[in-house]
Order: sequence, then C-alpha cells, then structure tokens
Amino acid sequence: MCGIAGYVGRRDAVATAMESLLRLEYRGYDSAGVAYATDRGIEVHRCPGKVRDLIASLEEGINAQAAIAHTRWATHGAPTERNAHPHQDCSNRFAVVHNGIIENHAVLRAQLRERGHTFTSETDTEVAAHLIEERLAPGAAPHDLARVLQSLMEDLNGSFALGVVCRDWPESIVALRHESPLILGRARTGHMLASDLPALIGRAEESWVLEDGDTVVLTPYDVVVTARDGRPRAPGWEPITLDATSAERAGYEHFMLKEIHEAPAAVRETLRGRLDPDGRVVLSELPDAVIERMKWGHVHFVACGTAYHAGLYGQRLFRSCLGRRAEASVASEFRYDEPLVDHDSVVVLISQSGETADTLAAAKEAKRRGATTVAVVNCVGSSLARTADAALMTRAGPEIGVASTKAYTAQITALAALGTTCGCECLSEDLPRLASAVETVLTGEDRIRDLAEALYRQQCFFFLGRGYDAAAAAEAALKLKEISYIHAEAYPAGEMKHGPLALIDASVTVVGICTRSDTHLKMCSNLMEARARDGRVLAVLRDDLPVPEAATDVLTLPSVAEPLMPVVAMTALQLLAYHIARLRGCAIDQPRNLAKSVTVE
Ligand code: AGP
Repeated sequence: MCGIAGYVGRRDAVATAMESLLRLEYRGYDSAGVAYATDRGIEVHRCPGKVRDLIASLEEGINAQAAIAHTRWATHGAPTERNAHPHQDCSNRFAVVHNGIIENHAVLRAQLRERGHTFTSETDTEVAAHLIEERLAPGAAPHDLARVLQSLMEDLNGSFALGVVCRDWPESIVALRHESPLILGRARTGHMLASDLPALIGRAEESWVLEDGDTVVLTPYDVVVTARDGRPRAPGWEPITLDATSAERAGYEHFMLKEIHEAPAAVRETLRGRLDPDGRVVLSELPDAVIERMKWGHVHFVACGTAYHAGLYGQRLFRSCLGRRAEASVASEFRYDEPLVDHDSVVVLISQSGETADTLAAAKEAKRRGATTVAVVNCVGSSLARTADAALMTRAGPEIGVASTKAYTAQITALAALGTTCGCECLSEDLPRLASAVETVLTGEDRIRDLAEALYRQQCFFFLGRGYDAAAAAEAALKLKEISYIHAEAYPAGEMKHGPLALIDASVTVVGICTRSDTHLKMCSNLMEARARDGRVLAVLRDDLPVPEAATDVLTLPSVAEPLMPVVAMTALQLLAYHIARLRGCAIDQPRNLAKSVTVE
C-alpha cells in the first residue's frame, strides 16, 4: 500500500503536499517523492527512506501551484530513488503517482518498449506514465487527461489510484480512482487529493470520497469529478468532523499506544445506535434477508492477519453460541481453495483498511459463487465496503499504527453484535458494559509495564488458550512478534504435549489465557506441564477463576460474559506487547518489513 497526497491552491503547493504526506507514512515508508509543475516544466524530487528525508532534501520556497507527493511500500523493484514515485513519460511532460498494483505491467512494458519507450525504473507504475504519453494529444486540456486516465481501465489489470501533474497546466492535478482509495479535500486556500482522511485533517474543512472509475480535475478554484460513464458526479462533500489531534499522537509516545487507549471509545462507537435500552442489538445497515441467511445458512469468515484472528472468534461464536455451521479462512487460501460456498452461504469479510488485496479478491470470489457477502470494515468508502453486498462498519476511527489494536477490538465487538442479532442470547447483558471493562484493564497499565520489564529479554513466547482463548492467543502471538520481533507462537493449550513442549526451557515464556470456566482445570494442567520444564508462566486470568498453581506471574482481568472476554484479554496483551517492544527499542508504529494494509497479493 502507498500514500498519495496532492495540493492545488494559494499556499506553497509542495510544502502543503509534504505536510499531508507525513500523515500517510503508515501506508508505506520505504521511499518518497514529489512532483510539481512550474513554468519551466515538471520537476521531480525523490529519495529512499522516510518522508522527512525527502523534505530535508528540498529547497525552501519552491514556487508551484500544484504538487503531488507519494510515500511508497515497495512491490515491484527495491526501495531506491529510481523506483520511488513520481514516474515520468519519455518527454517529461508530466509525472504520475500510483497506489495499488498493475498486474499486467510486464506485458504492457514489453509492448511499450517495442513502440520506442524508454523505462527508467522497475516499477509497474511507469507503464501508466508511458501509456498516458501515447494518448494525451499535444495541446490537450485537463479534462482530456481525465478521459485518458479512464481509458486506462480498459488496459490495466489490478488496482490503481493515479495522480498526475502536467507541465501544460501548472495549476492542475488530474486523478483517477480504480480499486485503490482516493479522497478529495476542500480547504479555504485550495483543493487536496489524498489516499486517506488523516492527510486532510486540520487542513481541509470537507472531504469527498471518490467512487471506483471516478476521475477528478483539481484546480485552485474548481473540482470536476466525472463518473466512469462520463457523466458529472454530483458533489459529495462531507464535513471533516475529526480534528487534527485525532490524526496525531495526542501526546502518546506511539500511535499504537494511543490506539490501545482508544479501545473503549472504539467499542462504544461500534455499538452506538445499535443497542436499544434493553441491550437488544439492532443492525439497521444489514438487510433482514442477510440476517435471516446468517441465522440458518453457512457462515464463512474470511480475512488476513489480525482480521483473520477476529474471524476465528466469529467462527467460535457462531458455532458455540448459535450452533451454526461456521468456519474461518485466511483470505489468501480461500480464494484459491475451491471454497465450499454457494447461494446458502454468507461470507463475512473482515478488514480494517478495506483495501487488503487478498480479502478483496476473496469477496469477489465469494460473490462469483453466489454467496451473500458482508464486510466488517473500518474505513468508510473503502473498496471492500463498496464490493460487499452489505457493510457493518466498526467505527474505530483512523488506525495509524501498523499493528492493529483498537480495530481488532472493534471487530470482535461488531461480530459479537452480529451474533446477538442472529440469536446469541448470552451477550446482551454485558455488551453495554464491555467498554468499561476495557477501561478497567487500561487502568492496570503500570502492572503490565512491570511485567514487560520482567519479560522483554525472553527469547520465545507461547500463547495458549482453549475455545475463545485460543482465538485470542493467535492474535496475542501476532501482536508480540510483529512489533517486538520476538518469536511467538499460539497453540490450543491441549496441543503443547503433542510436540511444542519440546521447546520449553527457562528462555521461554508461556502465556496462558485463562478466561474459560469449563476447561480451567485442564488449562492449569497444561501450564503446569510448561512450568515443570522451567518455562516461565504468565496466567492472564479472569478474576473469578482460581490462580493456576504453575503461574510465576498473574494478570487478572475483569469478568464479562465468556464470549466477550477476548476483547478484555486482548487489551491487556496488546499493552504487554507494546511495552515489551518499547523496552526493546523497536520501531513500534512502523515495524520493519510491514505496511498498514497489504494491497498486493
Ligand atoms: C495486524 O496487526 C497487521 N497489521 C496485519 O496482520 C493486518 O491485520 C492484515 O494485513 C489485514 O489488514 P486489514 O484488516 O486492513 O485487511
């Protein structure tokens, strides 16, 4: 995934575009670049590394009225200066930035080379620059370029949000949205283009989410959006209610910590307007037919990473609370697995960004097979929200830290609400008090920080659980490994004696998630098996259950209905992972090798 930011208007276009780009570094941060139009033609500056490195390389007071900028997560070609965006055509008439992936770039590149084009990078993006060069006639106007961009949808396969500046029109930006997000901003001083809302917060008063196939011509005084069918799009401006601080760290050391502390709000917002006074859940955004099918049909949860672990939770909930045939699949497997879904199936696709390529592809595959698709998604206007038959928004607000925290919490909350709507009786009483239970965990952060002090030098962690706790263990292991780089695995607790126990020694910490009553004694035995082999044992324990004898450390959790305990347990385990990573000096908000949303396969 990459970040695009652009500005046209009375302010310093380059400086404004770069300020916005800084807010998008969570989308990818291995190289960056900016292009702007001046009366001397197109100028491009690019460099490997962070946006700040690029800003430091720019001279002050560049006199440009239109600028586009890009922060990259490499997909084709190493993160070098020559592969950084923007990319240009042979005549340097314009510059292009791109978010997404052009899957048939190799064939197109060969054809363009045969027609005499010279390539300067290994990227798929550069193909678009040369195709535009072939189709944009001399003396063309910005709206001609908009039509050329729309014509690319006939030739390019994949996902592409494109932004273009052209030396013929130094005060314009032309852009296209196709399966990668693009949003417009309206400010008092001009107009903005961005991949995501945080780039606009505190700079624009209103935003407008483009639809797939939309093109836009931005000038300082006008915005013309044209739909794929060539008709003008009715203005879609919405006030930006989030303030600047919501996109900054609000005083926390890292976005991740801020977002863990935002979990109670994420729970409350996700339930807002969906709980009636007696705790009954009403999900008005889901058609009755979808709910009915979920009650009686086959429910399949599909996602990637953390969202997949939320799917494991959903699988457990629909099986144990509702007695439904439910299963969870990793999206990258589902789409190539000949999935057993048909007209009787409901496929629930879970995604924070709504732009994860594998999850989007799984959604399309499920629809092709006749299944009803429901998106549980955090980003309004995201591709997944538009692709699915229905969408249940998680309302966690922007999640900037690459490691998903409050979004996971909101996903579990949304799935619990969904289960309740489908007949799960056991949650109605505790859903209204879930947010305060999470707040109780957050008040115990000092204890968790102390535990991190004792554990951060450990070389390996096992997270164990049974039932819902096994799903939580999978997420806890991912959280720790992706930000602290410590090896961590998750197992159903009963599995340890079938092999993994061989790894237990004093360098290993076993975290037992103990919130389930009916198998608690079995859980205590499993932890004792680890303790007997010198493993360090941390029990993450519901406060009304007996302390496992094997525990060297105990972290108690406030009790809520068992199916909601993963929300409470995960808040504690997210904090533990965060403080361990902090003590190890890791790049918590931007872990090595990762990006916030993986929009490529
Ligand atoms: C989780 O901390 C990771 N950032 C990653 O596993 C993420 O959950 C996964 O890539 C799915 O992203 P999505 O929810 O935006 O689809």
